[in-house]
Amino acid sequence: MTRETVRIAMNGVTGRMGYNQHLVRSLLAIREQGGIDLGDGSTIWPEPVLVGRSEARLAAVARRHGLDAWSTDLDAVLADPAVDIYFDAQVTAARAEAVRKAVAAGKHVYCEKPTATGVTDALELARLARDAGVKSGVVQDKLFLPGLRKLKRLIDGGFFGRVLSIRGEFGYWVFEGDWQPAQRPSWNYRAEDGGGIAADMFPHWEYVLHELFGAVRTVQAHVTTHIPRRWDEHGKPYEASADDAAYGVFELEGGAVAQINSSWAVRVDRDELVEFQVDGVEGSAVAGLRRCRVQHRAATPRPVWNPDIPATEDFRAQWQEVPDNEEFDNGFKAQWELFLRHVVLDEPWRWDLLAGARGVQLAELGLRSSAEGRRLDVPELSL
Ligand SMILES: NC(=O)c1ccc[n+]([C@@H]2O[C@H](COP(=O)([O-])OP(=O)(O)OC[C@H]3O[C@@H](n4cnc5c(N)ncnc54)[C@H](O)[C@@H]3O)[C@@H](O)[C@H]2O)c1
Repeated sequence: MTRETVRIAMNGVTGRMGYNQHLVRSLLAIREQGGIDLGDGSTIWPEPVLVGRSEARLAAVARRHGLDAWSTDLDAVLADPAVDIYFDAQVTAARAEAVRKAVAAGKHVYCEKPTATGVTDALELARLARDAGVKSGVVQDKLFLPGLRKLKRLIDGGFFGRVLSIRGEFGYWVFEGDWQPAQRPSWNYRAEDGGGIAADMFPHWEYVLHELFGAVRTVQAHVTTHIPRRWDEHGKPYEASADDAAYGVFELEGGAVAQINSSWAVRVDRDELVEFQVDGVEGSAVAGLRRCRVQHRAATPRPVWNPDIPATEDFRAQWQEVPDNEEFDNGFKAQWELFLRHVVLDEPWRWDLLAGARGVQLAELGLRSSAEGRRLDVPELSL
């Protein structure tokens, strides 16, 4: 039995995503299952090297999980030939510079989205990685959610016929931070720190729409800041300079239209924090993070508009649950496993820095569309 150890410098590992999703639920979970089983008696074994700004916090994380490698010196870690991959889950504004350094040091790169705060930087990173001959990957976790996997299964099985429209509703109330602490970091609400809901969520919508229904060809967005004043982690008030709601209409290749609302200033009256309703000629579906329900054309009721009498039908009861039919692993872990197989075995992989740049492009064009009050074309990106 052989074990291929892959050393991964993990930057931003004290943050929400870096710690919970990437370290604990992905790489440590892979180690707990004995590595990635390659089926021939060999395994891939991820070996994290924690990187960050605070020695004490890194040491605490390392101790908690029995790890022995951490550093506050990114340059020294990147200079170490034993490190194979650089992973970045820092605040968005810090990412491009660190990724540039990692590529220059010849490391493969995997990072959170958005890959940069602007498309020029995002494309430059993709070009640098290509020219250096290193492999790259960007987190596109929503594709691996059970609800969206079931939706993809319906699409692949021809359930919808021609898809007409997609309506997405994402969001929840993020507390302002005065009388109850906010449940998201304050940098999310400051434009100067790379915050904003369009920059955060449009990259997700780009790859979800692209992979499931067709590339986004135009965008028209209304982006706004509903809550202009918030309180930070230390209880200090600040001006929310970034948008907290983005209402977008996206025309897709193939003719479908998607309309997605993203808001941190909305209260939830849904089954899940994000839901997509897909209407096709042959049937419709509502997919969330975990669930997916369908209504086929043969089982579609015939409502008649009459506001003078109470609703006679329980519309929500007329949908049918799509069964799991398989076990779904954590989405971040599932994508990590594919990236590590891509690095070690050269298996096919399409979620690279160019794919990441498409997400940044859509966010940038969405913000521009809103500022200029018009619909914009989304040109195809290439290197
Ligand atoms: N894929 C997803 O669903 C998803 C969800 C949330 C966030 N994200 C992305 O993950 C990244 C991190 O978000 P988060 O919510 O974990 O944020 P966070 O604030 O919890 O963590 C940020 C990390 O970056 C470090 N950091 C903070 N300020 C820094 C600075 N000025 N320079 C360098 N490092 C700094 C922090 O120490 C921390 O380790 C963001 O790019 C965000 O867009 C992705």
